[in-house]
Amino acid sequence: MRTSRTLWIALILLSISAASLVVADSSWLSKVPQADRQRANPYADQPEAIAAGKLLFEENCAKCHGSDAEGRHGRPSLRSERVARATDGELAWLLRNGSLRKGMPTWSSLPEPERWQLIAFLRSLPLGGPPAAVSRP
Ligand code: HEC
Repeated sequence: MRTSRTLWIALILLSISAASLVVADSSWLSKVPQADRQRANPYADQPEAIAAGKLLFEENCAKCHGSDAEGRHGRPSLRSERVARATDGELAWLLRNGSLRKGMPTWSSLPEPERWQLIAFLRSLPLGGPPAAVSRP
């Protein structure tokens, strides 16, 4: 009897976490085509690219994400587990397409090498602290 109750509780917990996964998946991440996810960053780990990406970040991204990339005014931190878990290809897709309805512009006007440099820079950042107490939209 005890085991079957444990089993039920486990099942209920499992379905709750499955449901929250579905919610999380309504994000831009779920829109990225499989082929894009697997694209590799030709500039990965290259110090010159990281330095160039840092300048591009200051110029284009810091006003929303903060110069420490920790997020501002409901704009997400880019030093999160979530960004760390995203593939380079997924980030490249987001920079090309944006997430317009949620306020992330498209960066397709930047040449593709610059977008990869930005991603190399993001990868060079350490994970940030606990999420700031700002509400996400
Ligand atoms: C006008 C404000 C704004 C600017 C400028 C901006 N972003 Fe964003 N960014 C956002 C918002 C808002 C989101 C959340 C989008 C969403 O949840 O779909 C976001 C999301 C992201 C994400 C995904 C984070 C996550 O957890 O899903 C990345 C990566 C990102 N931005 C990188 C950049 C980079 C790199 C630049 C500069 C080239 C940039 N952003 C410029 C507003 C901005």
